[in-house]
Formats: sequence, C-alpha cells, structure tokens
Amino acid sequence: MDKVRWFFSMFSEMFPPSATFTEKDVPDVAGKVFLVTGGSSGVGLELCRILYHRGGRNPSQRSQRFSEGVIGVLKLDLNDLTTIKPAAQELLAKVNRLDIAWYNAGVMTPPVGSKTAQGYELQWGTNVVAHFLLNRFLSPLQLKTAQSAPKGSVRTIWVSSSAHHFGPGPYGINFDDINYEHADKKPRPFTTYSQSKVGDILCAYEYANLVSDKGILSLSLNPGNLKSNITRNSGFIARQVIGRMFLYPPRQGGLTELYSGFAPEPAENKGFTYVIPWGRIGTPNKDVKIGLEQYDTGKKLWAILEKETDKYM
Ligand SMILES: NC(=O)c1ccc[n+]([C@@H]2O[C@H](COP(=O)([O-])OP(=O)(O)OC[C@H]3O[C@@H](n4cnc5c(N)ncnc54)[C@H](OP(=O)(O)O)[C@@H]3O)[C@@H](O)[C@H]2O)c1
Repeated sequence: MDKVRWFFSMFSEMFPPSATFTEKDVPDVAGKVFLVTGGSSGVGLELCRILYHRGGRNPSQRSQRFSEGVIGVLKLDLNDLTTIKPAAQELLAKVNRLDIAWYNAGVMTPPVGSKTAQGYELQWGTNVVAHFLLNRFLSPLQLKTAQSAPKGSVRTIWVSSSAHHFGPGPYGINFDDINYEHADKKPRPFTTYSQSKVGDILCAYEYANLVSDKGILSLSLNPGNLKSNITRNSGFIARQVIGRMFLYPPRQGGLTELYSGFAPEPAENKGFTYVIPWGRIGTPNKDVKIGLEQYDTGKKLWAILEKETDKYM
C-alpha cells in the first residue's frame, strides 16, 4: 500500500497540474526584503525575475500596476564556509529587515570525490552546511522582522528535491559517516545528492520547531523537475533524452518557490510544510518522516551542524 501511495506521490510530483498561484497572486511587497541564494541561474533566476517585476505597488497609478523593485547582488561562495560570515555581514549592513530567505542554491552529481574547501562532500557542504551557517547569521534579523510583520509572512525556505525520496536508509541520512569518508565503496553521486536534499528537509523541520512560535515559517519544497544548469554533470542520455521528456521550463520551479513564499496555505497548514510542484502542499518521504517524528533526526542533524559551524561564526 505504501509503495502504491509512494508511486502516486512521485507521479504527481513528476507530472503536476497547472500552477494556480502565480505573480498575480503575490500580495503587496513594497518595502519588503528578500534573499534568494543561487539567483544567477535556473529556478532562482526565475524567482528573482518575478520578485523584481513585483517590486511594489505604485500608488500614483490608478491601475495599481506593479513597479519594479531594487535588486542587489551578494557574492557568496557556498563551497567555502569562511566566505559566509563576510557575505552575511555585508547583507546585514545594507538591510534592516529580511522577510523571506530562499535557500535555493545547489549542486547536483559532481564528479565522485568533489569536496568543499573544508573537505565536506561537495553537495553536503554546499546544499546543507553552508546554508545552515548562513541561516545562523540571518536568523536574528528574520526574528526581528517577524515582530512587526503580518503573521505568516516571514519565511525561511530550504529548497529540497524529489531526490530526497532516494536518501540512504533507514531515514535518509548516513549519520555514521555523512561525508562517506570511511566507506569502502564511494556511493553514487545521486545518493549523496539525495542525502543533501534530505538534509534540507531536516533543517527546515528542526528550524520550524525552534522558531515557529516566534513568527518565522520554516518550510521545504521540491521545485519540480526543470531544465536548468543543475544537470551540467549528468550524462548525455540523461540530459538529452530524459531531459527532453520529463523536464519543464525553470519558470515553473520559480512558481513553486513563489507559492512557498507567499501563498496563504503554508501559513495555515498544521504541522510541517513540504511544498510540491507547482505550488501544492505535499508529503515528504515516509521514512524521512519516521526519522523526524520518531528518531529526532532533525534535532540530531541540527546539533551536528551547530557544532561544526561554530568556528565560522
Ligand atoms: N532543476 C531541477 O530539476 C531541480 C529539481 C529539484 C530540486 N532542484 C533544486 O533547485 C535548486 C536550484 O537548482 P537549479 O535547477 O536552478 O540549478 P542551477 O540552474 O544549476 O542553479 C543553481 C544556482 O546555485 C548556485 N550555486 C551553486 N553552487 C554554488 C556555490 N558554491 N556558491 C554559491 N552559489 C552556488 C549557482 O550559481 P553558479 O551558477 O554561479 O554556480 C546557481 O545560481 C537547487 O537547490 C536544486 O537542488 C532542482
């Protein structure tokens, strides 16, 4: 039965119905501040495009047309934890509020053995550890923003993937050896990618436990299967054949992220929110959920990441 449910869930994430929440549904964003990591390409770029053109209402125009926003670029290298503090400080010096942070940047299936500057498996270090550290710097400003912002409007969004369904057993994270340093046989890069995307869900879940009563909505999402540069390391067949058959324009993923940031449902949802394409509340993988709910995998990961990132604070 579980397998049947899983099949339908995956099918629905692969072949989603049309988006019902688009830029037309975004509430007034005048004066608000957003951060999108990985805004230079793919899904992040599409989201930035939408946010920029929804920059604010121009009250001088009776038609209530939207004017354009102000966009700034922050240099951030998620491969190197020593760069996170200066980048965060640069941002904190420029803005006095942070309404929504989309932790969207990511890498997928780099060559086996690829590592970050600190020696983390590249996908784990980039997709999880660096965003966790960035969030430690940005969290105080989001908490402050939440004190006066409308309820449910301040959000921290950890971008995952349907790949999280394929994380290592039993609950998606190989806690005994997260970087597979001691493994006799290195896992396939897709397994470590999947593990990193489970890591994003665990961070979202645990952060929700820590800050939901302080006004921050922490959630995760699968943007959908999209034609973007993320497949740059995939083989020819995967890119040309599977890519053409199953991948959608990246704007669709931008809409999933837009829904996660602004739609009312995530704020009304009881319990943890995992958004699926192109903007619906979905359910994370059953085993990942069991790990979170029965074995405190979120807490466990949070404690590990805190200890490991302390020295970069
Ligand atoms: N595309 C899909 O089908 C799909 C499916 C599920 C989930 N996702 C997730 O969606 C997110 C966005 O992916 P995408 O498809 O838009 O991929 P993409 O086109 O490759 O964009 C990834 C973005 O992340 C940035 N990035 C990568 N490594 C970085 C680093 N070390 N430091 C700073 N920025 C870095 C890239 O910047 P540079 O270009 O400068 O490196 C780029 O802006 C990822 O988290 C991915 O896992 C994508």
